[in-house]
Amino acid sequence: MKLVLMGFGNVGQGFVQILHDKAAALQQEQGFRAVIVGVATRSGGTLWHPDGLEPAALLAAARSGGWQHYPEQPGLRRDLSPLALIQHSGAEALLEASPTRLDDAQPALDYCLAAFAAGMHVILANKGPVALAYPRLLAAARAAGRDLRFEATVMAGTPCLTLAREALAGCTLYEARGILNGTTNYMLTQMSAGATYEAALAEAQRLGYAETDPTADVDGYDAAGKLLILAAALYGVSLRLSDLSVAGIRGLTPADLAAARQAGECYKLIARITPQGGSVGPQRLPLTHPLAAVHGSTNAITFTTDLMGEITLVGAGAGGTQTGFALLSDLLALQRRHGRQG
Ligand code: HSE
Repeated sequence: MKLVLMGFGNVGQGFVQILHDKAAALQQEQGFRAVIVGVATRSGGTLWHPDGLEPAALLAAARSGGWQHYPEQPGLRRDLSPLALIQHSGAEALLEASPTRLDDAQPALDYCLAAFAAGMHVILANKGPVALAYPRLLAAARAAGRDLRFEATVMAGTPCLTLAREALAGCTLYEARGILNGTTNYMLTQMSAGATYEAALAEAQRLGYAETDPTADVDGYDAAGKLLILAAALYGVSLRLSDLSVAGIRGLTPADLAAARQAGECYKLIARITPQGGSVGPQRLPLTHPLAAVHGSTNAITFTTDLMGEITLVGAGAGGTQTGFALLSDLLALQRRHGRQG
């Protein structure tokens, strides 16, 4: 399957590392072989080769500081704009893994629309376009007869959307509620053990959990963006950030956390969505509450349904490998649906 990858940060590199490490197993066990024909980053430009770029060389070039370190070879082009790369790539799918913007979702939204217009499937790790423009993306996908997938946007590779949309299809989902931001859950875990806010945030950034601008994480907007995605994908409801009540963890002090601990409680950043609306905010939970045991960058979501009661999924919520895996799982789903020719 020929692919174009937009963005080469933690997620893009995580994905390419998986392709590199598991190429033989994916081919043998899944009959899957990916060929990355194009890559683009906002600051570093693009690379395109119709026969495919070498994963190990892409990773080495990124670690050395940019595409100028990718080895020269006949047929390699470095001069395409991101849009021209999408339009002329000859790829079957666009993977959008550039930094999320929750104000206008650009330029990723235009890239996704261009990919559909060029007859490609679109798979997103970037939350912006799905959170802000899901109906537009879906209409473009349907007009092109191509697929729109975005498992990576909520709980990384933990199959939250697949569970809700496929395994639980036929149930009415009344509510989704849980811990949907890895950075803040990691920070709260570290701070409860005595770390300062600043040290905990720096470590979350170093580990690749935080957004490029971590303001969205600590102020609750990353989790809120995920609620917009859940509202659109599960309920068919288009909400805006301003429709949600959003608070983050910035105001929590070590004294607040200590007071909670003394009372046998802990703070968690809880996100909740129903077809009527939603909220994100810190809550004190008793240590006996199941969500109190969800530590570090792990996330959890509980779906309340009519036929199955409550179903809870717990797993990785952030990280390059874990989110890169979500891109792979969407690609494998595409292959199952369309066969090897995409
Ligand atoms: N910054 C996000 C988080 C990444 O910490 O959850 C995964 O969406």
